[in-house]
Parts: sequence; C-alpha cells; structure tokens
Amino acid sequence: MAPAVRVVAILLLEFVATCVQKDISGIDPKFSAPVSNVTVPVGREGVMTCTVQDLHKYKVAWLRVDTQTILTIDTLVITKSERVSVTHTEQRIWQLRIKDIKESDKGWYMCQINTDPMKSQMGYLNVVVPPDILDHQTSQDMTVPEGSNVTLSCVATGVPEPTIVWKRIGNEGTLSIVEQAGTGSPDGSVLNILNIQRHQAGEYHCVASNGVRPSMSKRIMVTVDFVPIVKVPSRQFTADLGQSVNLECYIEAHPDPIAYWSKAKEDVIRYPGIIEEKQFSDNSFSVRMQITIQLRKQSDFGYYKCVAKNAQGQVEELVKIQKRISKITIQDEPPTMILDEKHPNSIAAGTAVSRQNKFRELVLRVENSSASMVRPQFGLFLLMLLAMIGS
Ligand SMILES: *[C@@H]1O[C@H](CO)[C@@H](O)[C@H](O)[C@H]1NC(C)=O
Ligand SMILES: *[C@@H]1O[C@H](CO)[C@@H](O)[C@H](O)[C@H]1NC(C)=O
Ligand SMILES: *[C@@H]1O[C@H](CO)[C@@H](O)[C@H](O)[C@H]1NC(C)=O
Repeated sequence: MAPAVRVVAILLLEFVATCVQKDISGIDPKFSAPVSNVTVPVGREGVMTCTVQDLHKYKVAWLRVDTQTILTIDTLVITKSERVSVTHTEQRIWQLRIKDIKESDKGWYMCQINTDPMKSQMGYLNVVVPPDILDHQTSQDMTVPEGSNVTLSCVATGVPEPTIVWKRIGNEGTLSIVEQAGTGSPDGSVLNILNIQRHQAGEYHCVASNGVRPSMSKRIMVTVDFVPIVKVPSRQFTADLGQSVNLECYIEAHPDPIAYWSKAKEDVIRYPGIIEEKQFSDNSFSVRMQITIQLRKQSDFGYYKCVAKNAQGQVEELVKIQKRISKITIQDEPPTMILDEKHPNSIAAGTAVSRQNKFRELVLRVENSSASMVRPQFGLFLLMLLAMIGS
C-alpha cells in the first residue's frame, strides 16, 4: 500500500469511526445554510459552499452523489482528480472547488458531517455550454437562380439546447430578424425561402443562443442570379444630320452582365459605349451605359438597342433616333431659299444667295411642319416672300 493511499485509508477509518462515536460534548454541529445550486459554464471553476456551525471534533466531507465517491475530507483531497480542491475559511465554511469544469461534472454534490446519525445536505452543480455552430452541417454561401426554393439550415450545439434565430442585413445595413411564416422548422434551425427574389439576396445570419455567453452566429451569403433589367430614360430622339445624340441605358443584373449598344438589325456592329458607372450594390450589378452617336449620314438615324445578357438571359431595349426635318418642295418656283423660322431676318440674305442659284426648290426648315404650316402668319410670310421673288 502506497503511503498516500494508507493515509487516505486511515482518514476514512477515522471518519467512519467518528461517525459512530457518541457526541460527548453534547454540542450538535449543524448547517447554517443550505448548499446552493450553482451553474457553471464549461471550462470555468465550480465552487460549492457548505457552511457549518459548532463542528468541534467532527469533520466535513464532500461527496459526489451520482458515483458515491468521497472527494474531500476536512481539508484533504481524496479523489485522484487534480481539478478538485477544498478550502476551509472562517472556521465554518468548506468550499469544494472544481477547476476546468466538464460537462461530466454536472450532478449532485453532498456536504456531509460525520455525526451519528450523519448529517448531510446536497447541492446541484449545473454545467452549461455556450452555443457552437457546427460549420459542416450548416449551410454555406450559395448562389441560386431567382425563383428557386432556398433552404438554409443551421446546426448548433450547447447546453441548454440553443434556440436559433435567423437575421438578415437589410439595405440600410441593419440586422433584422427574418420573419418566417411557418415554413421553417419548429426549432428555427431551418429557414425556407420559397420562390426567392432578387431583393431577398444578401447576408443571412444564423444566431444561436442559450443564455450562456457568448452567443454564436454564422453568416451565410445568399446570391440571387437574375435576368438583367434594362431601362432607357428616353426611347426617342429627334436630331439633325451633323448633330450628336447621347444614348443612355441602365442595367441591373447578377451575375455581371455583358452590356453593349448596338445598331438594331446590325448585331455585328457593337458600340462599346462608355460604361460610366459600375457598382456592386445590394448584391447586384448596376451599370449606366452611355454612348454618343454622331449623326454623320442618313443611315446613322434609326433604331439602336441597349443589350444586356448574362447566364440568366438576354434583354434589350430599343431607342429611336429620327431626323428632325420638314421638306416642302414647291415646284416651279425660283431659287432655293433656306428659311429659318427662328431667324426670319435672314430671308433677305437667303434671297440674295439663292438668286444666284439655279435650284428651284424652297426649303422651309421648321420645328414641326404640320403645326407650322397652318399658322396664319406663316402663310402671310410665304405670300410676301413670293411677292419679293416675283419683283
Ligand atoms: C437545486 O436544484 C434542484 C433541481 O435542479 C431543485 O430541486 C432544488 O430546489 C434546488 N435547490 C435550491 C436551493 O435552489
Ligand atoms: C417551391 O416550393 C413550392 C411549394 O412547395 C412548389 O410549389 C414549387 O414548385 C417549388 N419551386 C421550385 C422551383 O422548386
Ligand atoms: C407636331 O406638333 C403636334 C401638335 O403641336 C404634336 O402633337 C406632334 O407630336 C408634333 N410632332 C412631332 C414629330 O414633334
């Protein structure tokens, strides 16, 4: 028998022997307070306190009830566990201390006085474990097409069992709880998003909590792919030959679209345009695409299209550039005159120039031919002009 074991054996004998002895002094030890239950997070130190008065020759022992083992007697540690110690203070307080608490330490502990009959009190040591999220069993970042059914799952451990709440970063950057109308699992570990829409893309957080700090959360990035949206602020432009027109187009898409301007029916010719802005906002690409069309020849007028395509599909919007002219050809009339409605004073000069020409055409350039021609002043103006030419 090793010396240490022999000492323990002797002590145990003494403890039991004292038990059966009659209390000669007549003073009866008693507990001054119940042994309180304690709750200890795993890894911390658990302390059970036993307060006794009038102990005299008697001894206080700590026992583990579940396993029926003696942990300490008086100030001596009996158990082999190096995590266990006992402290004796103020003559009447015996504290059982267990360092680096494990889940297996949970249970009833007994403070015993070796009177006859023995006196005892029990307290419960509860071990809690902060939540943990099992990464491999929890959803990872994902990219899904718009309209699909998405299932996010989150598996968490902890004692007591954690509850799971799903949160989402909104457009304002704030984290708010995702309301789910009965489509998820009752324990909250599953979040179903039916028919997911682009605005539902973003950061989802699975937050597991059980009252033991710290809470745990995992971020799951949900990316939604969708057919591009193409918007043109103006669909129609009127311009003169020689002018230029700025065409604009706004595109929103995910994944990143291929975007270009093209002359309609001439798919081959692509105008790279000027991509002015390209940003990644709220999980989608926003592009403003601008192009300047120089109207050098007749064929530069017509339809242009803004095209955006990605893996989800292709969308295009048409824009028309039409020529702003009104030609009134008056047969059998003297030289060509160019009259600008906005500058009627230029008639004289126009006349002078045109008289030298052989063209027998009168061109009136007006803003809107149909409207202008019916104006009385303009009719009068024409008469005056004809009279002038005639003279
Ligand atoms: C200790 O906990 C047990 C159950 O866990 C309970 O029955 C008992 O009343 C508790 N004692 C005190 C002093 O709170
Ligand atoms: C999504 O779920 C709903 C309801 O369960 C079902 O009707 C629908 O067909 C599903 N959609 C897809 C794309 O699987
Ligand atoms: C011409 O003017 C009329 C009436 O003011 C207007 O309804 C029409 O849209 C105009 N046409 C063009 C091509 O600007």
